[in-house]
Amino acid sequence: MTRIAVFVSGGGTNLQALIDARRRGELSGGELSLVIASSAKAYALTRAAENGIPSAVVNRKECRAVGEGEFDRRLCALLEEYRIDLVVLAGYLSILSENVTRRYSGRILNIHPALIPSFCGPGFYGLHVHEAALARGVKVTGATVHFVNEVCDGGPILLQKAVLVEDGDTPETLQRRVMEQAEWELLPKAVGLYCAGRITLTDGTARVLPEE
Ligand code: GRF
Repeated sequence: MTRIAVFVSGGGTNLQALIDARRRGELSGGELSLVIASSAKAYALTRAAENGIPSAVVNRKECRAVGEGEFDRRLCALLEEYRIDLVVLAGYLSILSENVTRRYSGRILNIHPALIPSFCGPGFYGLHVHEAALARGVKVTGATVHFVNEVCDGGPILLQKAVLVEDGDTPETLQRRVMEQAEWELLPKAVGLYCAGRITLTDGTARVLPEE
């Protein structure tokens, strides 16, 4: 059984999608074993509590006050304590250091609210992604689930889904549609495939194996 830690920073709608998929038996035996929030204010912590999932807050600013490397140390200590196999970044806004991405190489998934390589990399998070898509005038955007490596939004792409941009869209309406039509479907699907052992990662390319 795959023990999963979900990293969150905000409302936790992607965490909720994972919780709902787990309840429907769609995570192929994966267990949501821990939620780690970058801020105590994250409503995602309420969702974790309501669903009996242990949680912790690891805040970069608080860790910096303790000393260099404290953030990584606390994250890794929690991941070991809860015997985590897979890390899922779900609306998580902190950037993981190489210490963490190398230690969990091939075992960290992220959901990005655009079709990578469009509108990704440093500064492209939350509404900024959709503001950039609307400013560029794209007619199609979407979401991407990818493995996390040391390059921001640069790891091997696993799943993508396109979403139409509609006339009159604001960043908020577009964000909502991308969440509803892409993010909340792709992330549970990717986690379920991973837990079912149906993902291969070779030479930087992620592939989904056919169902036996
Ligand atoms: C949203 O912008 C979503 O598109 C992105 O992270 C932000 C918050 O997501 N993935 P969540 O509601 O906290 O899961």
